[in-house]
Amino acid sequence: MTEEPPATHTRSPIFQDRPWPDNNGVPINAHGGGVMFHRGVYYWFGESYRDANSTEPQATGVRCYSSTDLCNWKDEGIVLARVKDPRSEITEGCVIERPKVIYNATTRKFALWFHLELNGEGYKAARSGVAVADRPTGPYVYLRSERPDAGTWPINATEAQKAGPKEVEALKGMSFSGGPSPETPKHNLLARDFHGGQMARDMNLFVDDDGKAYHLFASEENSTLHLSRLSDDYLSHSGEWVRLFEYKWNEAPALCKHKGRYWMISSGCTGWAPNPARSAVADSIWGPWKELGNPCIEDAPTGETLKLTPSQWKELGYPSVGGIPRKYTLGADHTFGGQSTCLLPIDGKPGAFIAMFDVWRPTNLMTSGYVWLPVVFGRDRFTVTWSDPLHPSLLDGRATCG
Ligand code: GAL
Repeated sequence: MTEEPPATHTRSPIFQDRPWPDNNGVPINAHGGGVMFHRGVYYWFGESYRDANSTEPQATGVRCYSSTDLCNWKDEGIVLARVKDPRSEITEGCVIERPKVIYNATTRKFALWFHLELNGEGYKAARSGVAVADRPTGPYVYLRSERPDAGTWPINATEAQKAGPKEVEALKGMSFSGGPSPETPKHNLLARDFHGGQMARDMNLFVDDDGKAYHLFASEENSTLHLSRLSDDYLSHSGEWVRLFEYKWNEAPALCKHKGRYWMISSGCTGWAPNPARSAVADSIWGPWKELGNPCIEDAPTGETLKLTPSQWKELGYPSVGGIPRKYTLGADHTFGGQSTCLLPIDGKPGAFIAMFDVWRPTNLMTSGYVWLPVVFGRDRFTVTWSDPLHPSLLDGRATCG
């Protein structure tokens, strides 16, 4: 970490899904990330990959960039790295995804939560890792990982769920697809994971105006989102939580608050491949949440939908995924090729938010792109429209209506 101030040179527009150079001219490498605003500076945290074309395997750590204008970013380096010690949960070979950082005004510490998969176990572990730092740019000290909410039931658990099925023991040996499947809802996964803690994969954090912080994650084999209030120090779970969108298979969730209401964006569950985004609104963070459908409403600026043939799709390295039409598009119907990762409030512009998306390139994740688009709030829904390039001044007119 250097002592130089964040990058503040001339503003350049934000171009969609094109290499975005940092202060060293190196493409920004912060995927599945989130931006936190603290004392006049934006901090962007994300998954940082090595080049798959090098002899190193693709590896993740959490990288941080800082900026005062959202366009020009200074590389603050890796703030949480995987370690050599094979006994560590974050040893090389583990997977660190969707890191997010929040500031605790009482403890004056920065809490970093992320989705952790253990070395050699694929996506089975489904754990949440947590690390803490005194400064936004770290270094972050790794504390532990957990399956959240062990030994507690969600606020909206039914008596039948709490009674648990007789076959909970048998369920422990069963494997489930991480994607939509008619099998999953037949089993009480909530009860299966009551003692050991709930599965937690794609995730986000949200701090409300009253300082309460929430952890939102894909649970129960990705079938159902869990929203769990964190403890007052933001370093563990409080035991107060709720299940949302049961058996709707949401991933990549992100939350924001506007005009006293809570707004959510998420994706469907198709791995790295894009699918139609989803949105929802609630008056209370605990729900009821109302589903609003795909907030993306416009295709590319020409009005044309960018089409990919199956072979182009393959070249990009997307796995073939059941449920996605053979005629692939990268228009609003497939989130412009992206997947949500953050709803970012713009400082000093009430009602102005950027929806941040990742355009995944799974054969070389480091080269995955970013799409940042303005969020426009109406009374009962919000929309995300295509805009390339995105210039922050656009937000003045486009994101403050409604
Ligand atoms: C996606 C998820 C990513 C990553 C990927 C792995 O569905 O949003 O964060 O976990 O699956 O296949």
